[in-house]
Amino acid sequence: MKIDIVSVFPEYFEVLNLSLLGKAQEKGLVEVTAHNLRDWTHDVHHSVDDTPVGGGAGMVMKPEVWSECLDELLHLEPTTVTYDSTVTCDSTADADDTASADTAKPAESATEIAANADTVPATDRPVLIFPNPSAPLFTQQDATELSHANHLLFGCGRYEGYDARIPQYYRAQGVDVREYSIGDYVLNGGEVAVSVMLEAITRLLPGFMGNAASIVEESYTGENALLEHRQYTKPADWRGIKVPDVLLSGDHAKVDRFRRDEALAKTNELRPDLIEALDCSKLDKADRKTLMALGWEVSGTHPRQR
Ligand code: ADE
Repeated sequence: MKIDIVSVFPEYFEVLNLSLLGKAQEKGLVEVTAHNLRDWTHDVHHSVDDTPVGGGAGMVMKPEVWSECLDELLHLEPTTVTYDSTVTCDSTADADDTASADTAKPAESATEIAANADTVPATDRPVLIFPNPSAPLFTQQDATELSHANHLLFGCGRYEGYDARIPQYYRAQGVDVREYSIGDYVLNGGEVAVSVMLEAITRLLPGFMGNAASIVEESYTGENALLEHRQYTKPADWRGIKVPDVLLSGDHAKVDRFRRDEALAKTNELRPDLIEALDCSKLDKADRKTLMALGWEVSGTHPRQR
């Protein structure tokens, strides 16, 4: 997987040479390059931002600098698009794009691009990702989808963000453009968000983790995502707190049931929204019994709180 990151603080990404991601780069599983957006400026101040049109606080990242950079990294020729400015929102993955290229044929029509929204990215198409606090939340499912791409290009915004025409333009060029928030809080820039997304995506690459089974058992994975059960190691008695007896029993079926029940109870307490999203047809008899004891009705498509 080839990963390009564009930022005004490329040094921030030196940490990616550490730990498992560093090893994955050494093994040739991933190739990460951090670029300085200012390398594509032409003025003496290397400015990348300007005041917001329409007024308001802060500065907005200029489209011209980004486009010179992105055209080069995506191997695209500059072009002009016709755009319907009455559209007020096209924030997410390729949804309802109304721009179209008039001097170069886009790789796909806007309708085709929209049809591909939220699907596994075509491995031969680069995916351009902008972290954005005003975008849909980045989830484990997104990480899984993106782990199948061959080329990811992250653009880190700063200040009040980037000119909204940048994602619109690249969508019209047939690029799979996505904007994601990593949580309901505002950071100073996209760098931290990119690191989070990058780690969530790359650890899913085959050969990245020593033990692939640990990925399957984790929270938020699989069709019926639950928070993971608690984990213990030795000693069995530490400062008076004992590991649950069943985990020492050697009875694998009992251990599995105990862990599953604990995952259900923990999810019920901390993330009932995940219980509501469970598919009842995928729950076994013991799951249903546990959920009913926790106050859920498990008769319809999804559990409902009694
Ligand atoms: N940039 C600033 N805050 C962000 C957030 N919460 N998620 C993604 N990008 C951001």
